[in-house]
Amino acid sequence: MTAEVLSESLISTLPGHTYVDENIFRAEQERIFEKMWFCAVLAADLDKAGVYKTVQVGRESVIINRTRKGEIRAFYNICRHRGVKLCMEESGEVNRAFQCPYHAWTYDLEGKLIAAPNLTKMPDIDRQKYGLVNVAVREYMGYIWVCLADEPPSFEEDVMGAIEERLGDLRAIEGYDIAHLSLGRRIKYDVKANWKLIIENFMECYHCATIHPELTEVLPEFADGLAAQYFVGHGAEFGADIKGFTVDGSEGLDVIPSLSEDQDRRYYAITIKPTVFVNLVPDHVIIHRMFPLAADRTIVECDWLYLPSVVESGKDVSASVELFHRVNQQDFDACERCQPAMGSRIYAKGGVLVPSEHHIGAFHDWVNDKVGDVVPAS
Ligand code: FES
Ligand code: FE
Repeated sequence: MTAEVLSESLISTLPGHTYVDENIFRAEQERIFEKMWFCAVLAADLDKAGVYKTVQVGRESVIINRTRKGEIRAFYNICRHRGVKLCMEESGEVNRAFQCPYHAWTYDLEGKLIAAPNLTKMPDIDRQKYGLVNVAVREYMGYIWVCLADEPPSFEEDVMGAIEERLGDLRAIEGYDIAHLSLGRRIKYDVKANWKLIIENFMECYHCATIHPELTEVLPEFADGLAAQYFVGHGAEFGADIKGFTVDGSEGLDVIPSLSEDQDRRYYAITIKPTVFVNLVPDHVIIHRMFPLAADRTIVECDWLYLPSVVESGKDVSASVELFHRVNQQDFDACERCQPAMGSRIYAKGGVLVPSEHHIGAFHDWVNDKVGDVVPAS
């Protein structure tokens, strides 16, 4: 199904039930989140062997840890004996192995079964075969991306391709040297809205003049309603009297030195489907990772990344963080205000996109293409 053209100005959105229906959400988990590359954790959070994080990817829980060789490994968070969830915490540290809390099967940091009660009396148990089940991993831009598909899609096409498509050239992001930036602040938002509403909101700026007073002050062209994502390669320019990307337009932090001249005083936004937003400004990079937990609930983790010297010196990043924190709250409030209407009978056919939002139609086509025909639960 493609978006319906309703008039010269209007095209249709997805039908309302696609934002609330359990069967559709399950299909999205199965065919999108469990099939594509999923940005899971900041690599620097796994700073030594045995430190781990657990993340929800579609319907599966995944453990991501660093081995003694310094490599990153990811496994399904499921004991091979009788299926207990191995790690219950969102993050933690083990000494040298993961031990199941049920019958004490024990796995090393590479996932191999290394001990179990009476294991030596069962020499036929293949310790590799009954080790934890591996998940594909890839490190890019300082983040660990995982993929549950048996045959992962091309990372170059799906992830790097999205950046290239938006910026016009992959080299445009290299100057930000994201992999070598440091975490200055992280804020986690529990958003009571469908993940697609959050993406759609991020893709358009028709709402900017209404709900983002601070952002439009810094980026005056956003007040016209055309998002940076509307044009290939375009970055929104700071206002003439704006000194930095801060809540009051005051001076920002140290500028990333490897940027090109035309990237100074500009803001770029990139959506990497299905769950990542990248925001580039001269002195920091903001990365959003979404974790869709239910049709009407999405956790969003937002990281503010600065030059390591800025973070190490303890410089005050609060005016800088506050700008996009407010933008996030304004955006997520708007998404939460949309969510209840998605199940309303008058929204059965969905809403409409005005011309400055028409590019969202391509996102809807993409979702339809991935999910295909699903019989709604209701
Ligand atoms: Fe893990 Fe039995 S379920 S050891
Ligand atoms: Fe917004």
